[in-house]
Amino acid sequence: MSTDTIISIRNLYKVFGNDPQKAMALVHQGMGKDELLERTGHVIGLNNVNLDMERHRIQVVMGLSGSGKSTLIRHINRLIAPTEGEILVDGQDVLTLNTEKLRELRRFKISMVFQRFALFPHRNIMENVGYGLENQGKTKKIIEETAARWIGRVGLSGFESHYPGQLSGGMQQRVGLARALATDADILLMDEAFSALDPLIRTEMQDILLDLQNELQKTIVFITHDLDEALHIGDSIAILRAGEIIQTDDPQNILMKPADAYVADFMKDINRARVLRVRAIMNTLEPGDEGPVIKGSTTIEEALQIFAETAGDKLIITDRKGLKVGRLTVEDLIRGIRRPTTAEIQAEVFTNET
Ligand SMILES: Nc1ncnc2c1ncn2[C@@H]1O[C@H](COP(=O)(O)OP(=O)(O)O)[C@@H](O)[C@H]1O
Ligand SMILES: [Mg+2]
Repeated sequence: MSTDTIISIRNLYKVFGNDPQKAMALVHQGMGKDELLERTGHVIGLNNVNLDMERHRIQVVMGLSGSGKSTLIRHINRLIAPTEGEILVDGQDVLTLNTEKLRELRRFKISMVFQRFALFPHRNIMENVGYGLENQGKTKKIIEETAARWIGRVGLSGFESHYPGQLSGGMQQRVGLARALATDADILLMDEAFSALDPLIRTEMQDILLDLQNELQKTIVFITHDLDEALHIGDSIAILRAGEIIQTDDPQNILMKPADAYVADFMKDINRARVLRVRAIMNTLEPGDEGPVIKGSTTIEEALQIFAETAGDKLIITDRKGLKVGRLTVEDLIRGIRRPTTAEIQAEVFTNET
């Protein structure tokens, strides 16, 4: 565990059914999800999941419906107990917490944003946002001041005395976000929080979240089945399939080096020019290299635009500190857009295994 890991999930298994322990023996012998279900009626929710999440980062967990995303995130605040394995939050094993400590964890350290908003229909917006603060035992004055501040922060000032039913879906989810942020918890769990929203509103919410995150530096566990969303907001993306993590990596690496054909297939419709950053494909700077200087975070699409507008045959890439670290030609950019072939992915998998 690196020093800035805040959530650590180790050898986590969750089996649903009458006798999970007995079914576990078969899972340890290597029986897969389909066979276990057929033979024993038990469902593998999670299968040996290992995942370290970094403090102040957005960890996306992505997978198709039924892959185990909700099961995984609910282990973090122990809404679900594992069949086997450990969940450490700030070094503390959540399974060892007594009722009192667990309540504290959920009130002060972790808050949650739900897909269907889960607002209280008979409480107005102010009272909804203040809910967590009430639970924390804050005074009325503090609750109102804090709630009003967060309502303002998500752009809903003036709606304090409205009721959830009077608000659009996007506005309700802003309330959900404000409620989660108001408690000042370090960790935010978001289970498909934007999935019920229309595409435009959804993108807007993603940007609101990224804006807030720039300022607040929370640790966010963000679940989605949407790849564009995952690539847009994730600092790291874990890909789940049938309860197993197939790959955990930063978005650039997932595109450049998919762990297997399944991941590559997932990525195949992505507009690589728009998502890939030049730092992921640049070559080492050579003496005498000259040309327009661009940041490593520039996308391939933007870099091509710069080539189109300038005369040179090279771009110079800088790192976060502004140091010149790499170079790119038009050919490099075009190569970056090309998807890895099946043979390349297999070769990569092979070298990883040996
Ligand atoms: N309480 C439960 N009882 C039995 N099976 C469950 C239960 N909860 C989840 N599952 C199963 O576990 C798997 C993972 O579910 P879930 O975590 O909800 O997936 P996701 O959130 O990725 O759609 C699915 O096969 C689902 O049917
Ligand atoms: Mg789910």
